[in-house]
Amino acid sequence: MRPYDIIVKKRDGGINTKEEIKYMIEKYVEGKIPDYQIASWLMAIYFKHMTSEERYNLTMTMLESGDKVDLSAIEGKKIDKHSTGGVGDKTTISLAPMVASIGLKVSKLSGRGLGHTGGTVDKLEAIPGFKTALSEEEFFKIANEKGVVVAGQTANIAPADKKIYALRDTTATVNEISLISASIMSKKLGIMSDGIVLDVKTGSGAFMKSIEESVELAKAMVDIAKKNGKKVTALVTNMDQPLGYTVGNSLEVLEAIQTVKGEIKNDFTELCLELSAHMVDLSGIMSYEKAKEEIQKNIYNGKVKEIMKEWIKSQGGNPEVVENPEKILNISNLTYDFISDKNGYITHIDAESVGISSMLLGAGRASKEDIIDTSVGIKIFKKLGDEVKVGEKIATLYYSEEKGYEEALKKLKESYIIKDEKPHENKTKLIYE
Ligand code: URA
Repeated sequence: MRPYDIIVKKRDGGINTKEEIKYMIEKYVEGKIPDYQIASWLMAIYFKHMTSEERYNLTMTMLESGDKVDLSAIEGKKIDKHSTGGVGDKTTISLAPMVASIGLKVSKLSGRGLGHTGGTVDKLEAIPGFKTALSEEEFFKIANEKGVVVAGQTANIAPADKKIYALRDTTATVNEISLISASIMSKKLGIMSDGIVLDVKTGSGAFMKSIEESVELAKAMVDIAKKNGKKVTALVTNMDQPLGYTVGNSLEVLEAIQTVKGEIKNDFTELCLELSAHMVDLSGIMSYEKAKEEIQKNIYNGKVKEIMKEWIKSQGGNPEVVENPEKILNISNLTYDFISDKNGYITHIDAESVGISSMLLGAGRASKEDIIDTSVGIKIFKKLGDEVKVGEKIATLYYSEEKGYEEALKKLKESYIIKDEKPHENKTKLIYE
């Protein structure tokens, strides 16, 4: 086999065989095929795409390049959840105890944030004492005893994807549905759960900006999971504005806690409920409708809150954070308000720019080595469709002396558009499909 022939075949719109795909990936990981040939093949895929079978073969080859995480030491049903990434997305923190309140086990391996999106591990570390580096033994023990455990990823899952993703990132070949779906699913199928709920984001803060493309991506991921015999549900959800009313680590934990205590009701709380109910439904324990009802009951009777406390305590965090989040969390007392200089309606929010604004405050990383500041971020007061008057507060920036707020404020201001008419109702819909 020659890489040249495999590239030519794809360039001309042909279908690569399983053996050809395996050859390209395995030899690349071994260092026997150079970057420029794989980059060229990726570009050919970018333009000519892959069939469902090619996509599956690519996923399985990348999956087989690494470790698998066996969760069989955890009793009961384990349903995983994956979001394709967004701004203000702290769903795992609220959803995990919600799902556990029904009797499912939530044992999640999560990542850190990069660029405009945050990561669950960083957010959880905003809770004083909370430890995300757990031994295998600790991980299984907490999952079995408390029903919830969330740790940082340490297993060497899909190393081929890591190498290829780095190449895609520098060769403008990230945004292709087959490549994205194979990349994500090679990592998710490496965790041996009983099923997975996929939250595919769409809009200004997502990889996929249009609903059509996002639905296509969701279908591609579902197709891969099903071919692998995994139970799966995918939702296409709105990322045309940040999720909820906070962006930044401690602020997001605060909103997640208020959610499990039933103190607030917004798009974020609704999404948590939706995803949780789908997770329960997928497990076969209870129907989606019944799960939604039961989870809401457990929020208001305090069961979800108690599970959250126990979970935080078992991972070394201060459980008092659940009762008194504003006292325990480190939230900067340096604030600056973004005030409207116009009357009208919020018609557009560039969610990615809001994420970058939060990163500029120090809440996120521009590069992997950056150290984040969990005390800074943005509290939002006006979202899509809201009316705003001159002098009204649109958002508050929580900043540090070191980074200041000026640059972040400029970016945040650029992300908002205020006009005389309300935006189309489709823009504020939470779940598209
Ligand atoms: N996330 C991934 O893990 N891979 C992609 O290709 C895109 C988003």
